Amino acid sequence: MMISQAVELILGSKYLTALTGAGVSAESGIPTFRGKDGLWNKYKPEELATPEAFANNPQLVWEWYSWRMSVVFAAKPNPAHYALAELEKAGILKSLVTQNVDDLHERAGSKKVLHLHGSLRVVRCTNCGYEIYVSEPIKVPPLPRCEKCNSLMRPGVVWFGEMLPKDVLDEAFSEVSKSDVIIVAGTSAVVQPAASLPLIVKRSGGFIIEINPNETPLTNISDVSIRMPAGKALNEIINRIRESHF
Ligand code: OAD
Ligand code: ZN
Repeated sequence: MMISQAVELILGSKYLTALTGAGVSAESGIPTFRGKDGLWNKYKPEELATPEAFANNPQLVWEWYSWRMSVVFAAKPNPAHYALAELEKAGILKSLVTQNVDDLHERAGSKKVLHLHGSLRVVRCTNCGYEIYVSEPIKVPPLPRCEKCNSLMRPGVVWFGEMLPKDVLDEAFSEVSKSDVIIVAGTSAVVQPAASLPLIVKRSGGFIIEINPNETPLTNISDVSIRMPAGKALNEIINRIRESHF
């Protein structure tokens, strides 16, 4: 019933967008941040994911990111990523905003992906901003150095206390402002400004479809709340849409 309602909203939408979080990659074996097995349950974000932590101990921070890169690069997209890519290919989903730093949406075939929190595929110079794309995890030591200015390179992700990339954030707001239906999948919806994107859709009279096995602060204002893993839910949704659409 919840699935049918979601399908109805999706097929009736004029400008569908999606916001995803760590939960959509959970079924690919990538740990989420919060909750029982979450990274922030085992590790302290202030020791690993802040500019101060990196300044104090770049070796430790790089070791942790090197491990996360190896997990993410070896992971494979799951049915949630594939279903969202298929929705885009069918012309239904217009853009996908993600908080994830993995590239599983792209590897599943999604084209228009806005990475609010950066990407583990990008490594950036702390001094001149020069960026490289990495296909293999960075192995430390030695710490990676910029080939332009020899300064320390850092992971191309957003850390606590840092600004989100302005161009990406502006585009995410602009996409969501045009949107009459948004799918919010696999996010605890507690980290700003990402968590406020669905509110923009709601405020302009649109609808929120939430997919999450657990309740979040968004559940109360969601029009459809699917309490299932994202892979299972989105797979059912795309199957129904294939039947009715093609
Ligand atoms: P969280 O770890 O905060 O939340 C993951 C959400 O996914 C939870 O609400 C879970 O209930 C849900 N979940 C777990 N398994 C799922 C599944 N199979 N299908 C669907 N949902 C599932 O992750 P995010 O909301 O993405 O920031 O976290 C937001 C930001 O906080 C991250 O981008 C990261 C973190 O600190 C930065 O690194 C800047
Ligand atoms: Zn440099």
